[in-house]
Amino acid sequence: MSATETPHSKNGRLIEVFDNLLDTLRNFIRENHVTHEEYRHAVAFLGKVGQKGEASLLCDVFVEVSVDEIDNDGRAGTITTIEGPFYVPDAPALKSPCVLPQRSNEHGAILFFSGTVRSENGRPLAGAILDLWQSDTNGRYSHFDIPEVEAPYNLRARVTTDQSGKFEVQTRVPGPYEIPKHGPTGALLAALGRHAWRPAHLHMKVESHGHRTLTTQLFFKHDRWINSDVVQGAVKQSLIVDPIKHEDPNELLRNGMRDPYYTLAYDFVLETGIGEAARDQRN
Ligand SMILES: [Fe+2]
Repeated sequence: MSATETPHSKNGRLIEVFDNLLDTLRNFIRENHVTHEEYRHAVAFLGKVGQKGEASLLCDVFVEVSVDEIDNDGRAGTITTIEGPFYVPDAPALKSPCVLPQRSNEHGAILFFSGTVRSENGRPLAGAILDLWQSDTNGRYSHFDIPEVEAPYNLRARVTTDQSGKFEVQTRVPGPYEIPKHGPTGALLAALGRHAWRPAHLHMKVESHGHRTLTTQLFFKHDRWINSDVVQGAVKQSLIVDPIKHEDPNELLRNGMRDPYYTLAYDFVLETGIGEAARDQRN
């Protein structure tokens, strides 16, 4: 800290939001007549959340939607939604067209996911990166539910768009899943009488120089849980897709496919502006 820097000037934002949080919390306690027993119960619950490593899970399920909404208020281009707790950085870098890393016996219908990444003025963005991650057909994520040694970065990759801003990725149709429900977050949901299911989805962060990074998800229209995501507010209308099923035997034969498969086309539009890395450096 320099001679002219005071704790207040250095941590002004922290002090401001913490004071506000404390005021809000104290008002909440007064308004709800929180008892000492309830207070101890809440403290023990937070302790368990920490012990079980569920801080991100708990916050992402209940709170991240609001952070995403405020942080992206008025944003141009494709709408955002939450990142969630299952992102892993530094996935393998692949050039489009490509096949996402998968096990030799990977189950689930094949999905060809393609589209173009554009700037908000319509210009295609060559060399944009789609950082993709998803569950497998059984709703399991690599590095979390699938051991890393078994299949590192399974169904995860950083895919670079071609000269026309296009990408084409071969992957598998993901399955819906229940968020981890045997820890404190699951216990809270059960106590609230709520299920733990998320509708099937693909996750992506889309980045291009000179543009704001887009973090979003695509959801499948006919999923059983599409209208009751445990993460309330995460599913947005323009992020719901309906992949085309290809099952005509002649078509399969023509395309060298053994089993029915799906195709999905979706274009992403990025807002112009500085990217997150540049913003971080500036701050
Ligand atoms: Fe997810």
